Amino acid sequence: MITKIQVARLDDIDRLGSRTVFVEGKEVAIFRLSDGSVHAIENRCPHKGGKLSEGMVCGAAVHCPLHDWKINLRSGRVQEPDHGEVTVYEIEVDEATGAIYISL
Ligand code: FES
Repeated sequence: MITKIQVARLDDIDRLGSRTVFVEGKEVAIFRLSDGSVHAIENRCPHKGGKLSEGMVCGAAVHCPLHDWKINLRSGRVQEPDHGEVTVYEIEVDEATGAIYISL
């Protein structure tokens, strides 16, 4: 069964900004790209656990604040030459109310 949980509102997150939320005990980083799209990934770098919510967003990737690994916010994959991936959460935005939901 899919559960939909409201985690934030569009107004809460600036473009190229992020917000951290806890969903069922997991720390999730929500990002808003320059095109306005919203993406959610686990807030833990697969390298050594850096907080991705504190990284810089560039294009569709976030740069980990610790050692600059680049993680694609759409696929969750680490860019070459590094390797790894993070969990990507499905996001839904209600354009009428600005509510952001995560599906679990
Ligand atoms: S912990 Fe993220 S690059 Fe090292």
